[in-house]
Amino acid sequence: MTTILNYDVLIIGSGASGLSLALNLVGETSVALVSKAAIEESATLYAQGGISAVVDHNDSIESHVADTLNAGSGLCDPKVVEFIVQRGRERIQWLIDNGVPFTTHTRPDGTVNFHLSREGGHSRRRVVHAADATGRAIETSLVEQVRAHSEISLFEQHMAVDLITRAKLGATPDRCLGAYVLDLENRRVLTIKAKCCVLATGGAGKVYLYTSNPDVATGDGIAMAWRAGCAVANMEFVQFHPTCLYHPTAKSFLLTEALRGEGGKLISQSGEPFMSRYDEREELAPRDIVARAIDHEMKRSGADCVYLDVTHKPAAFLHNHFPTVTKRCASFGIDITTTPIPAVPAAHYLCGGVVTNVQGCTSLEGLYAVGEVAHTGLHGANRMASNSLLECLVIADSTASSIRSVMQSIPAPENIPEWDESQVTDSDEEIVVAHNWEELRRFMWDYVGIVRSNKRLERARSRIDLLHREISEFYGNFRISGDLIELRNLVQVAELIIRSALKRKESRGLHYTLDYPHRDDNTSPHETILRAGDFS
Ligand code: FAD
Ligand code: SIN
Repeated sequence: MTTILNYDVLIIGSGASGLSLALNLVGETSVALVSKAAIEESATLYAQGGISAVVDHNDSIESHVADTLNAGSGLCDPKVVEFIVQRGRERIQWLIDNGVPFTTHTRPDGTVNFHLSREGGHSRRRVVHAADATGRAIETSLVEQVRAHSEISLFEQHMAVDLITRAKLGATPDRCLGAYVLDLENRRVLTIKAKCCVLATGGAGKVYLYTSNPDVATGDGIAMAWRAGCAVANMEFVQFHPTCLYHPTAKSFLLTEALRGEGGKLISQSGEPFMSRYDEREELAPRDIVARAIDHEMKRSGADCVYLDVTHKPAAFLHNHFPTVTKRCASFGIDITTTPIPAVPAAHYLCGGVVTNVQGCTSLEGLYAVGEVAHTGLHGANRMASNSLLECLVIADSTASSIRSVMQSIPAPENIPEWDESQVTDSDEEIVVAHNWEELRRFMWDYVGIVRSNKRLERARSRIDLLHREISEFYGNFRISGDLIELRNLVQVAELIIRSALKRKESRGLHYTLDYPHRDDNTSPHETILRAGDFS
């Protein structure tokens, strides 16, 4: 059987971005949708709080824009913010048309409205949700639609390894021609040619030891785009969610910000509320402020965690509105209706990424990026809660229009060589990969976390240089595996985070450093852009 396949569009990733893009393209183009695990597995599946959108007549686009700009600490692109916020209402309707069951409530006069929750940084209730499992409702509904379209060729358990570009083949002008994709079950590498390739690979939380992200979040898209010569921006802005469940056996479980939106209080081990000492908005300050406050409290007291107390709410309300959190905590013996929940911050979202415009175009012809992998300018130095799913949906829609408008003019991709495994052998040292994963994630947590310093960042840089060399050698000599590809990408993304953090000589939004503890408003705010050739 041939391992060369040909499509109009290759979409890598099956979260909110990849699925909605595929559905927006269907019927006009042949689409391959590649996903490295089961199709549902994605950050989208675990999203709890919801999608921010202006759907209430008391709300306004101006207010949503102003809150987003404020959370972004002077680094959002106002035009991009407006573009995305203006399209929120229609994208919510599109999701409803595709079967997503949002939570509603009936007013005394009988009218039915969305039930809206409130989260940090929002000046009002604005978050459309499906109880506390919004992501699951979106992911499962869109997967059902995608499966119903036989024109979309689905490749589950297939991991994109690298993009194929004309430059890599020694030709000019440069253009993306497709990707090499590892079939994880059969351990063979497919060559997928496409007129347009789209990275919808999500974020990179697994760079850190503690994260809310699922295992698939290893920054593959950013690393592939970087190796293909694309510019990346603002990689130093890693968002730490203030409240993940602290329990020895609870892996990656988020305590949604909507709990604080309903009056949940953060308290210390001795039961004392502390947020008023950090910000007048207290628990509903933007995430960077809340996460830093918790980090400070934990370091000050030596405690392993703080507590999120929602016991002021009636039990029935908590069961109704937060069934996922209630059940999950109960499975660890925590009754949230009577007991404060142990909580710690964890890496949650990457505000930076591959530079794109609002049509998803990257700096490489034929390559697009949508969702958490991309940097459009919406989030600035700190993403406001529930603005990510909004960005995924809006940009997927505009990217589909952009792809449709150019499709007819793109020639079929030329001949490209198949993956060559003739020079490599099977590794007998997989343990090296496991150890390097562990080492990377620990030093990123210790040195490139919520509070940084030049010394810590330099330490991280010297370790990353060593890991880079070791992994490159491994990659060059041994047959590839899923773990090796992910480690190679994590090391690349970690390097981009460290290099960007070292470049920013101020504290702003999510980037806080002891050496420059203040925001520098004397020079005009700037993004941190890295391009191939900036360092070897
Ligand atoms: P993802 O949903 O992460 O999908 C990425 C896809 O790419 C996956 O299918 C993955 O398997 C695939 N993939 C990755 N690499 C490869 C590769 N090499 N080859 C093939 N496939 C690959 N945001 C909000 O706006 N509201 C919320 O309430 C909210 N809650 C959240 C709760 C949690 C626990 C988490 C982790 C995030 C939350 N976020 C929320 C953020 C938001 O969920 C994500 O930013 C968003 O879902 C990203 O969607 P995406 O399509 O870009 O990527
Ligand atoms: C949450 O529910 O707290 C997550 C919301 C988000 O990350 O946008």
